[in-house]
Amino acid sequence: MEQVLNYLAQNRDRYLAELKEFIAIPSVSSQSQHNADMQKCAEWISGQMNSIGMQNVQIMPTGGHPVVYSEWLGAPGKPTVLLYGHYDVQPVDPVNLWTTPPFEMTERDGNLYARGTADDKGQVYIHLKGIEALMKHNGGLPVNLKMLIEGEEEVGSANLDKFVKAHKELLKADLVLISDSSMFAKGVPSICYSLRGLSYLEIEVTGAKSDLHSGSFGGSVHNPIQALAELIASLHDKNGKITIPGFYKDVRPLSKKERDAFKKLPFSEKQYAKDLGVKQLYGEKGFSSLERVWARPTLECNGIWGGYTGEGAKTVLPSKAFAKISCRLVPDQKSDKIAKLVEKHLKKIAPKTIDIQVRNLHGGEAAITPIESPGVQAAVAALEKGFGKKPLYQREGGSIPIVVQFKELLGIDTVLLGFGLPDENAHAPNEFINMDNFFGGIRTSVHFFNELPNYWTTKGKKK
Ligand code: BES
Ligand code: ZN
Repeated sequence: MEQVLNYLAQNRDRYLAELKEFIAIPSVSSQSQHNADMQKCAEWISGQMNSIGMQNVQIMPTGGHPVVYSEWLGAPGKPTVLLYGHYDVQPVDPVNLWTTPPFEMTERDGNLYARGTADDKGQVYIHLKGIEALMKHNGGLPVNLKMLIEGEEEVGSANLDKFVKAHKELLKADLVLISDSSMFAKGVPSICYSLRGLSYLEIEVTGAKSDLHSGSFGGSVHNPIQALAELIASLHDKNGKITIPGFYKDVRPLSKKERDAFKKLPFSEKQYAKDLGVKQLYGEKGFSSLERVWARPTLECNGIWGGYTGEGAKTVLPSKAFAKISCRLVPDQKSDKIAKLVEKHLKKIAPKTIDIQVRNLHGGEAAITPIESPGVQAAVAALEKGFGKKPLYQREGGSIPIVVQFKELLGIDTVLLGFGLPDENAHAPNEFINMDNFFGGIRTSVHFFNELPNYWTTKGKKK
């Protein structure tokens, strides 16, 4: 083990140079102008997989961007890990708010800045290097490993469940490992045991059949932007509760035990507000911020547009207004059911003066991993060795829709071993990964694969 750790320390510069190369490929899944980059990025990963000793490396087509698969199955009798991650990233706009170019990885104050450093290329790369070090020193791995790196996570993994269904045998494993989340805070490693689900909708409100002169017609028709704003504003009451009938019906209440555990975490509401730059926090009355983000459902307007937004003034009464809405969901809400409730409610309360259309763009279910599972316990041991501190248990507000599908289709639980930080600016300008977390992550990856067989018997039960 010492040799492996020395090897990691000696290779720091190479890791940074390689990651820079990976990051430089602008793999933005939602923008078709980057389709060729998606393929290039998949090829870069397959090249890495081949070079570190993974076998049966394949770039496999899906209905959308390809997935990259590989395996190493040379440890009979040992558990099989399915390592999942994503190589796609979110768009970089507004690009003028980046201090350094978004696809040029730059080191500043102990952080590595660029799109994808934390979410999720950097975390995929962490494992590539953990695996490489183990292969190099032991001629193989202490576990069997299958890697599945997809290119559509940031757009809802729409083609992945079909892929998993079609390749159940290929993907058969004992547990899933995902590093696509954050630690609780800098220097505070944690294990995440729950993610929220999601319902994502788009609303289109139409007034007159075309744009109108706002002087000649303003006052005689309901402006669709105003109507849409009124609709959206009515979706929360003064206590921050969502007003859609039935919205909370299936919400699994937080147990006293869990609420108490959240309260014991080293978290200050005041500091949180300060770090976010808000004058005051906002949310559902009766819950703390951690409870609101981790274990309560929400409804957010992600974008709203219509009319004239260009330079200078244009006096127009627009024909249309649009909004994007996401609901984050908790166990046992169902994403399709919530999408239908939102649509039904909006149609019911929409004024007669406009037409409204609601489109369900994508969704996913909330996930909970049993913390007593051997995979989670191996991750706890690995984090303790990799970061020199016992990890905390936490939940997360974000979503990784495939987690529940892995459970449903392959029957296996996921270990969420995140190396990001809560303030890493994921999806925003100046995304970064902290360098201590990056190198600590590579060490932890090595420890995880080494520890797992100690927590797992061949029958997949706890020792
Ligand atoms: N890495 C995130 C998921 C995440 C975010 C986990 C925060 C834990 C904390 C992932 O890449 C992501 O952003 N997922 C999307 C999913 C959506 C597009 C279906 C999300 O949560 O918005
Ligand atoms: Zn991600």
